[in-house]
Amino acid sequence: MSKPQILIADDQADVRQALALLLKDSGYEVTTAASPAEVLSVLRQSLPDLILLDLNYQRDTTSGAEGLALLREIRRLDSELPIIILTGWATVELAVEAMRLGAQDFLEKPWENARVRSLVANHLALASTRAQLRRLVGVQQTADADEGLVFRSKAMTEVMSVAERVAGSEIPVLLTGESGTGKGMLARWIHQHSARKMGPFVSVNLGGLAETLFESELFGHVKGAFTDARSDRDGRFEIARGGTLFLDEISNITPPQQARLLHVLEEGRFERVGDTVPRAAEVRVIAATNTDIQTAIRGGHFREDLYFRLNTVEIALPPLRVRRDDIALLAGHYLARYAREQGRPALDLVPAARRALDEYDWPGNVRELAHVMQRAVLLAKGEEVQAADLRLAGGETTERLDNLTLEQAERYVIRRALESCGGDVETAALRLGVSRSALYRRIEKLRE
Ligand SMILES: Nc1ncnc2c1ncn2[C@@H]1O[C@H](COP(=O)(O)OP(=O)(O)OP(=O)(O)O)[C@@H](O)[C@H]1O
Ligand SMILES: [Mg+2]
Repeated sequence: MSKPQILIADDQADVRQALALLLKDSGYEVTTAASPAEVLSVLRQSLPDLILLDLNYQRDTTSGAEGLALLREIRRLDSELPIIILTGWATVELAVEAMRLGAQDFLEKPWENARVRSLVANHLALASTRAQLRRLVGVQQTADADEGLVFRSKAMTEVMSVAERVAGSEIPVLLTGESGTGKGMLARWIHQHSARKMGPFVSVNLGGLAETLFESELFGHVKGAFTDARSDRDGRFEIARGGTLFLDEISNITPPQQARLLHVLEEGRFERVGDTVPRAAEVRVIAATNTDIQTAIRGGHFREDLYFRLNTVEIALPPLRVRRDDIALLAGHYLARYAREQGRPALDLVPAARRALDEYDWPGNVRELAHVMQRAVLLAKGEEVQAADLRLAGGETTERLDNLTLEQAERYVIRRALESCGGDVETAALRLGVSRSALYRRIEKLRE
């Protein structure tokens, strides 16, 4: 393996020389630069593995403005290259500002050689772990990427046009909708259509997080922060750096967790558990919930200020039963996919099966539809899928009837009437006490 490359940027020749000697001695390849212009010209040729960066340059020795501008420029070139700030007259504010702009750590002059060595070694190790993680996340990402969202309904077309408009910006998005409507999928889609698409997409399910794990999971911890903290650990905010952080099931977090998250989102920085070093929260946040967050706010279970932070734009994914135009298309999509996966020839749905899909309520939305099609591919004999292969909960129980909307009830009553008279609209209309044309109109309307 080639030696890690380190760039030392400082306007004082003796600092450059001393650090260069020390680091070459420790087995690194070293380049030096004496001015911001020199730093940028070095970076344009090739990126080092780590930079030791002074913030105070000759023309402007105290404010550090030039150094901060340089830091910003480096971050623009590479969002995660480890940067350690060299700080002369350790102005804490300057160091904090540098961390906010994405520096990882700082080193006070005069330094101890042992401290320089361990700092450099630790940050190189962290960066390589991060790169490995990113590769893992990246693999998952491409595996899912060829799975586009399937839709044709007007409702979903509208949703996607909003998603398209917000994807390119950095604004936080809140996705709402019943379970299985595609919130997770849309979050990924937005990431893939954003300027951060080369960065990681990191998802964290807040509903599944034990109280004690919340902080460490999101913000990371340092070794010894608590009993089980045997080594330093990156939190999701850090792993998602430069990319998108998807906070799933956001409404499930407790009030103290809500306060903590709000604080981090407002400040744009966080600390690992057991640590005081501020780190930049350089992520785009997409949150999702499948419960009615407005009710949670009214009931005092969810902070309104956090809600406003998260939902600069809110995208509500409609349940499948109100975008029935998507059902057949999705069914075809999953039928083809599972047949392919199970090594079967292409399957067709018989008309009765299509009707059954069309009339079902889909409480589990697209996820349920996908499961139904998967099972149907297993059950189908020959090249056709029969209605029975779908195993849809056909016999409505009174329990289900109690929960129907007016539209569903109408659909149900009309379907039963049609079934009981063999699909003859005239007889069905007679039974329902309406004219034939009125019944046709209703059927048309329900088909929309
Ligand atoms: N428009 C769509 N086209 C193709 N597949 C879809 C579509 N919408 C959802 N799916 C699929 O349906 C399943 C459920 O979607 P997803 O996990 O995104 O739902 P969700 O809204 O996040 O649900 P939950 O609230 O339970 O987490 C996934 O397998 C997803 O790939
Ligand atoms: Mg989900």
